[in-house]
Amino acid sequence: MCGIVGYIGKSNAVPVLIDGLKKLEYRGYDSAGVCIFDGCKLTVTKCKGRLSNLEDKIKDDPISGNLGIGHTRWATHGQPSDVNSHPHTNKDMTIGVVHNGIIENYLKIKEWLMSLGYEFETETDTEVVPHLIDYFYDGDLVQAVMKAVDKLEGSYALGIICKNEPDKIVAVRKDSPLIVGLGKGENFIASDIPAILSYTRDVYLLDNREIAILTKDDIKIITQEGLPVNKEIFHVTWDAQSAEKGGYEHFMIKEIHEQPKAIKDTMTSRIMADCDDIKLDNITLTKEQLKNIDKIYIVACGTAYHAGMVGKYVIEKLARIPVEVDIASEFRYRDPILNEKTLMIVVSQSGETADTLAALKQAKESGSRVIAITNVVGSSVAREADDVLYTWAGPEIAVASTKAYVTQLIAMYIIALYLARLNETITIEEYREIRDEMLTLPEKAQIVLNQKEELQKFAASNYMHKDIYYIGRGLDFAVALEGSLKLKEISYIHSDAYAAGELKHGSIALIEKGIPVIALATQSQVYDKMVSNIKEVVSRGAKVIGFAYEGNCEIEKTVNQTVYIPKTLDILAPVLLVIPLQLLAYYTAVEKGCDVDKPRNLAKSVTVE
Ligand code: F6R
Repeated sequence: MCGIVGYIGKSNAVPVLIDGLKKLEYRGYDSAGVCIFDGCKLTVTKCKGRLSNLEDKIKDDPISGNLGIGHTRWATHGQPSDVNSHPHTNKDMTIGVVHNGIIENYLKIKEWLMSLGYEFETETDTEVVPHLIDYFYDGDLVQAVMKAVDKLEGSYALGIICKNEPDKIVAVRKDSPLIVGLGKGENFIASDIPAILSYTRDVYLLDNREIAILTKDDIKIITQEGLPVNKEIFHVTWDAQSAEKGGYEHFMIKEIHEQPKAIKDTMTSRIMADCDDIKLDNITLTKEQLKNIDKIYIVACGTAYHAGMVGKYVIEKLARIPVEVDIASEFRYRDPILNEKTLMIVVSQSGETADTLAALKQAKESGSRVIAITNVVGSSVAREADDVLYTWAGPEIAVASTKAYVTQLIAMYIIALYLARLNETITIEEYREIRDEMLTLPEKAQIVLNQKEELQKFAASNYMHKDIYYIGRGLDFAVALEGSLKLKEISYIHSDAYAAGELKHGSIALIEKGIPVIALATQSQVYDKMVSNIKEVVSRGAKVIGFAYEGNCEIEKTVNQTVYIPKTLDILAPVLLVIPLQLLAYYTAVEKGCDVDKPRNLAKSVTVE
């Protein structure tokens, strides 16, 4: 979703801003712009489309200066257009603003400002901000920002510069991420770490309602009430290269190949061979507290929600605690039953997804305990939850989530085992069997990655189809949902996943001659039933590609093409099974010539409702 970069220092801000915005391209955007103070005035250059359009515009009409803010916009209020792009300014161009988030009461503020004679040029919610700051400005930018944000409802990360005070950038956030980068003789703001990682690894993670005042040599942080805040520096341990393609054609395929390592890293020091304890430093839930818990909600969006579905199966199976899985945007408005006997597990790669964060807050307000599974250290979700289990997937840049998903699965297994041990619902022998098998997953994932030919073959002969369906039962159904989402989001092929036993209750009507069906058949308990379901679609003309364990040659009799994954415990199969589905989506999108890493209309981090 929208990206923010700001720079104050000795260098020309323009290349720093453009470079930073490029690092944020993965978040998804439809227009871009910069506002630069050139020594005497603010100049705004902005346009619809890719950053290369903005670069061309700047080449035609060069600008430079030591102070600037930049933005990539993902349209919410007002269509993608030059005029709606950020930065926005007040009428006399003395105040420049970039904004991520949504100002929910912007219409009320806009009407009020218009009644005072303010004129508006855009359809955006953001434009009220520079006008509001203008209204309050009487020679002190920080004071004016404090008064302005006091009037705002909704979510915002704001970067603000002022022609009359060109020695500073003012930044403030509420429910939308913003960081401050510490340089030498220069300082930065950004909505995400990769934007400034080439310049500094030391950052402040701004908390809600904190205001940062940056000069080139100093950073001061205060609350929105003006009280000083003492913040710890957060040192980023991963380097800029982890956010580069490293020789791969796309981030997505690089990230798919990073999965064996991501799985291993997420298990490391938590579950270990020959050790019967699960070590979870950041989870403090005790046996006594768990006894009091009668229900678990897993709440998340998109791919993370699909990881939650696997979580439900494994927690119920191993720990014998009832689990409900909810889509965060539905959960928050359905009046869920939450109390101190409820445990919520939120899952979010970015840790900034607005709906997930809102569900988390709702749970906390109701006295429920919250465990967060997230990939981003210091993210809002991590900071708001009682306990955190970090997935160590490393930065995920491609919009389509891959390595974050498999590490979310690993986190789910770890939590399920942890709860099962506390609850004494599995024996030590059962624990050891699962633990030992989990430790083989990185190696087995590598084996899956080494067999791409069948998937490339499938992609080459099916990329032109308009519909492709996925079917499975039990955990295979949960994986089918994720495989189908992957395909539709990057290849734009219409796809749905069905619980195979449900087909005959309606969806089988869609099956016609030649339609590709991806059938997942790893779960032994329902294997025979699954084979019957495959026969049902085959007999209606479907072209089926079956996914099964190595050694199961039986399935070849029923399907047109087979992909094998190494044998593992059924509950762990999703980790291996999803990898060929990710590859299948990837190769199909490549065959179609789609923009794999930045699919249309999508954003990496969905920080608005
Ligand atoms: C799909 C995808 C999205 C995200 C969803 C939640 O490939 O990436 O469906 O999973 O937007 O995002 P996080 O996990 O950051 O909360």
